[in-house]
Amino acid sequence: MTSKKLAAVRGMNDLLPAEAPVWEWFEARVADWVRSYGYQLLRTPIVEHTELFVRGIGEVTDIVEKEMYSFEDRLNGENLTLRPEFTAGTVRAAVEHNLVYEGPRRVWSAGPVFRHERPQRGRYRQFHQVNVEALGFAGPDIDAEHILMLARLWKILGIGRVRLEINCLGAADERARHRADLIAYFEQHAEKLDADARRRLHTNPLRILDTKNPELAGIVAGAPQITAYLGEGSRAHFEGLQRLLEAADVDYTVNARLVRGLDYYNLTVFEWITDALGAQGTICGGGRYDPLVERIGGKPTPSCGFAIGTERVIELLKDAKRVDVAPFTDVYVLHQGGPTAIRALLLAERLRDAGLDVILHAGEASLKSQMKKADASGAEYAVIVGENELASDGAAVKALRSADPGAAFAQQRIVPFDELPDALVEALMQAEQAQERTET
Ligand code: HAM
Repeated sequence: MTSKKLAAVRGMNDLLPAEAPVWEWFEARVADWVRSYGYQLLRTPIVEHTELFVRGIGEVTDIVEKEMYSFEDRLNGENLTLRPEFTAGTVRAAVEHNLVYEGPRRVWSAGPVFRHERPQRGRYRQFHQVNVEALGFAGPDIDAEHILMLARLWKILGIGRVRLEINCLGAADERARHRADLIAYFEQHAEKLDADARRRLHTNPLRILDTKNPELAGIVAGAPQITAYLGEGSRAHFEGLQRLLEAADVDYTVNARLVRGLDYYNLTVFEWITDALGAQGTICGGGRYDPLVERIGGKPTPSCGFAIGTERVIELLKDAKRVDVAPFTDVYVLHQGGPTAIRALLLAERLRDAGLDVILHAGEASLKSQMKKADASGAEYAVIVGENELASDGAAVKALRSADPGAAFAQQRIVPFDELPDALVEALMQAEQAQERTET
C-alpha cells in the first residue's frame, strides 16, 4: 500500500534545483555588495520571545495582531514566535551583547521570515529578506548611504525600472500632534470608513493613510499630512537627505502618505517599488527607527535600516533572464563497473583535487545511457574509464559542448591517468578563452 503524498505548508515554498542558480547568483552578489560598504554579518535565531516583536514592531500592527506564527514552548510555557522580520532581533542581539556601546555598527543578515498573510503572487507565509541595519548613527548621511547602496544593488543585479518613494514621519511629539488631528479628521468621516479603518481609528490612525481600499481614496487625500507638522529638526534631517540624494543623482518622489507597516519608525522612511510584479510591487522597505533600541532595553541609539524582499527581486531577475540556469559541471566520469568503478572513483577525487567540478556516475548502466546522463549534466567533458582504457592505464576524454573544432578533445582520445588532471584544466582554460573570443 502506498502512503498518501504530503505537501508543503501553504504559502511556504521549496527552492528546487532548477531555480537554485538564480538564488545562488543573487546571494553571491549580495555578499560582495554588503562587504563593499563595510557591513558585517550578524545572524540571530529564527525563534525569539514573542514579547520582543510585540514591543518592537508594535501591538497595533497587522504583523503583531494577526500575522505572527506564535506558539507556547511545550516544556516551559514560554511564548515564542518565528521571526516576522529581522530588525527587532538584530537590535535585541546588539543590546544583549553590548555591541552598540563600543561605537556605531553596520550589520546585515539574510534568511527566512514568517508572516501569516493570505498567499498570492509575491506574497508568501515563509519568505526571505536581506536585512541591513546601521546602529548608532544619527545623521541623514547614513539614510542616504542606505538608499545609495540599494541604487547600486539594482544596477549590479541589472534590475531597471524601480522607483524610490521617501517620506519623513517626524519626531515623537510631531507625530502625536498629527495623530490627534488625524483622529479628529477621520471621526468626522466615521460613517464612510470601512471596518478596518474604524478599528484602527483610535489605535493606529496613521495606517488608515495606507489603506488599499479605493473607496477611501477621497477621504485619505483630504487627511492632514505629516509634512505640515514637522519641526525644524525633522525638516533639516529630511532636507539633508534630499540634498545628498540629489548630489548623487538618485531619483525619488516624496510620498506624504508613505507610513510603513511597523511602528518603530521615525523621520526617514522609504520604499522601492516596481510595476512589473502586479499588486506586490514593493521590493524593499526601510527607514529610521531611533526609539527602538530604548524600547528593547538599550540606551538611546539612533539607527536605521532596510529589508529587501528576496522572492520579489528573484522574480525580477528571472524576468530579466540575467542568470544562466542550465546545469553545469566540468567533468562527468563514466565507467563499466567492477575494477573500472574503483578506478573512476579515485580519478574523480584526483580531478577534484585539481579544482575541477566532477560528477561521478553512480550505479551500473550501459556506456550509451551514461553518455546521455553526461550530456544532460551540462558537463564540458566526458571522461570514460572503460575496461579497454584501464588496460592502457588511461581514460578516454571527449568534449561534449565545445563549439571550436580545433579544441582539445574535439575528437575522443585516451590520456594517461597521471596526465589527466593537468590536461583537463588546460583544456577548460582554452575552452573558456575561446568562449570569451566568440562573445566579444
Ligand atoms: P517590511 O516592509 O515589512 O519591512 O518588509 C520588507 C520587504 O519584505 C517588503 O518590501 C517586501 O519586499 C518583503 N515582504 C514583506 N512581506 C512579504 C511576504 N508576505 N511575502 C514576500 N515578501 C514580503 C521590514 O520587515 C523591516 N524590518 C525593514 C527594516 C529594516 N526597517 C528598518 N530596518
